[in-house]
Amino acid sequence: GPGRIVLGIETSCDETGAGLVRLEPDGSVRLLADAVASSVDEHARFGGVVPEIASRAHLEAMEPTVRRALDEAGIGLADVDAVAVTAGPGLAGALMVGVSAAKAYAAALGVPLYGVNHLLGHVAVDTLENGPLPRHCLALLVSGGHTQLLSVSGVAEEVTEIGSTIDDAAGEAYDKVARILELPYPGGPPIDKAAREGDPEAIAFPRGLTGPRDPKFDFSFSGLKTAVARWVEQARDAGRQLPIADIAASFQEAVADVLTDKAVRAATELGLDTLVLSGGVAANSRLSALAGQRCAEAGITLRVPRPRLCTDNGAMIAAVGAHVMATGVEPSSLGISADPGMPV
Ligand code: KG4
Ligand code: ZN
Repeated sequence: GPGRIVLGIETSCDETGAGLVRLEPDGSVRLLADAVASSVDEHARFGGVVPEIASRAHLEAMEPTVRRALDEAGIGLADVDAVAVTAGPGLAGALMVGVSAAKAYAAALGVPLYGVNHLLGHVAVDTLENGPLPRHCLALLVSGGHTQLLSVSGVAEEVTEIGSTIDDAAGEAYDKVARILELPYPGGPPIDKAAREGDPEAIAFPRGLTGPRDPKFDFSFSGLKTAVARWVEQARDAGRQLPIADIAASFQEAVADVLTDKAVRAATELGLDTLVLSGGVAANSRLSALAGQRCAEAGITLRVPRPRLCTDNGAMIAAVGAHVMATGVEPSSLGISADPGMPV
């Protein structure tokens, strides 16, 4: 039929993703299916992702998840024209499960294989929802594993890192603070919820790396986490009841403030008029509201994929594969390896 169907496989962390997209003859890319299986519950009691558990979960979930995506799209495996897979960055063992599976599918089908950068996926996924991106844009990727400002020139072509966290990722800070407050893992959603009842100005938590001599576009969240821990410890020592909502709202405000301030300043300085906000933390209600407000003030178009597409999934990898295919770049060899530390 018209258009080429790309199967995308994602296993860099704790989500097993299988997505299907179609590269249309006009170069646009359409979402057909997006199936995700998560091992998040298995990691919950450890307060973070356990690599060995993630790898085994991917191995078990891989084939059923691909099957679900095909069913959702109403097609068969034989209809797939290319396979794209996350080659990195991510957990080594977890990546290897996805890369091995992708090679097997590509070899069995006799179709090209594309090894894809996971971070690019978080940007490219926006095209499935909001159409083509301008030639140049800025992306703010905020998840449990990464916090980065990227300058993007064509989703399949050139990406430059403008800044990143020097310690904890934004989502990691949410998860650690949730632990301090004895809220469940992953910490983003319960903190977001608790913050709705709280006063964001109740406690003045520090804004990391915002001093005049600090790197302009890098982030730091470990000092913020320590400040929350110290505040909570003092309140507990004094026998005071913890104002969970106020702590959550004040912490959340500090994170959203620094992220949006640096992103808007980077876009302005680089002359980029579009900001793509993606990654699991992009689902945060305060972050998207503040980003919307500050982008509007600065004349920047804000693009945020729906929450389901912001978190790790296979469709975002299929999207990169489709865009790479559209540019005519050679596919990867079936000998590709996983690259856990893959740079952007
Ligand atoms: O992109 P993602 O699903 O996986 C990776 O880490 O790659 O992101 C998960 C992270 C977790 O740290 C989680 O706490 C955070 O995203 N998160 C949120 C929210 N929903 C998820 N953080 C803040 N507010 C939320 N509503
Ligand atoms: Zn991710």
